[in-house]
Amino acid sequence: MTGFMTASEAAVKWNISHRRVITLCNENRIEGVGMLGKMWIIPVDAEKPIDARTTRYDETVNAKPFLKWAGGKGQLLDTLRTYYPEGLGTTITKYCEPMVGAGAVLFDILNNYDLEEILISDSNAELINTYNELKKNASELIQLLQQFENAHIAKVNEDRKEYYYSQREMYNSLIEKKNANATLKAALFIYLNKTCFNGLYRVNRHGQFNVPMGSYSNPTICDIENLLLVAKKLEKVKIISGDYKQTEKFIDDKTFVYFDPPYRPLSKTAEFTSYTEAEFNDNNQIELAEFIKMLVEKGAKVLASNSDPKNTNPDDNFFDDLYKQLKIERVSAKRAINSKGSKRGTVSELLICNY
Ligand SMILES: C[S@@+](CC[C@H](N)C(=O)[O-])C[C@H]1O[C@@H](n2cnc3c(N)ncnc32)[C@H](O)[C@@H]1O
Repeated sequence: MTGFMTASEAAVKWNISHRRVITLCNENRIEGVGMLGKMWIIPVDAEKPIDARTTRYDETVNAKPFLKWAGGKGQLLDTLRTYYPEGLGTTITKYCEPMVGAGAVLFDILNNYDLEEILISDSNAELINTYNELKKNASELIQLLQQFENAHIAKVNEDRKEYYYSQREMYNSLIEKKNANATLKAALFIYLNKTCFNGLYRVNRHGQFNVPMGSYSNPTICDIENLLLVAKKLEKVKIISGDYKQTEKFIDDKTFVYFDPPYRPLSKTAEFTSYTEAEFNDNNQIELAEFIKMLVEKGAKVLASNSDPKNTNPDDNFFDDLYKQLKIERVSAKRAINSKGSKRGTVSELLICNY
């Protein structure tokens, strides 16, 4: 069979899994692919279809958050949508999400509105590096991530564990270096997010990522289609790393701003609030409320979410007092309500807005 290779041969040549090659064949994403009986045959000179320029992706498919993130708003999205301000996409032409995390609302807005300007930020510098790399170097990032996925899936038990911890070590050595390869760091960031325990991002006091391996037998680490959609959507997004206050200049009376800060813990040990080395304590919540009031005075449409202290203490008026000039609504959300995540239930959460 000259001029053609089998799916297994293509898998070796392209350093991707056999399963992945079959998917690409089924989706007709390889130029010249055909069938001989029940076997796929691929031209030997066919291009590996992972590059943004050679992969066809469907623009009508929505981009989704590409990370798992503590406090991710995927579950609350249907409710949040009903709180988007009137005029979004017409009189409101700008969107800002200063504490973006995995960006459940960001991607919903990118999928459904054609806005003029969008700005996101987060204090987690490695998270922001990952957004930036996906925006600028998607093909290279995807290629690396695919290698990590293949290596991870091919291993079991102790071998897989050893691989995870060596990847974690590599990541930690890179984040210490000033001029480390940013694309490699981003690929490792996604790999660790998809394979670590519960997708947590937790660092020790030296800033080193210390989450143990999760126990997923066959995790999807490199969702090429979604990563390409995300990269495309990010083309028009400005991305900055650091404190939310840096977004002040961008925000004006044409801007919708969504704040999703680390939630105020319902009890001392209840919730995870440490996404970076710095904690987000009550003073930080007060400072954020001041910042929000200042943006409201500028004429921005501001929406913020937080935990409802009344879930555990009906007399706790912390947020009701803090945001008494704004509207506060209580909505129900499915959440883990203790630190181990074993006690899940419906809790009330706060949505605060000025419109
Ligand atoms: C609850 S998460 C946001 C989750 C996001 N809405 C989602 O759907 O994935 C809160 C985020 O705030 C970020 N953060 C904490 N303190 C910050 C600060 N001072 N400035 C900017 N971002 C901050 C954290 O790194 C974290 O990503």
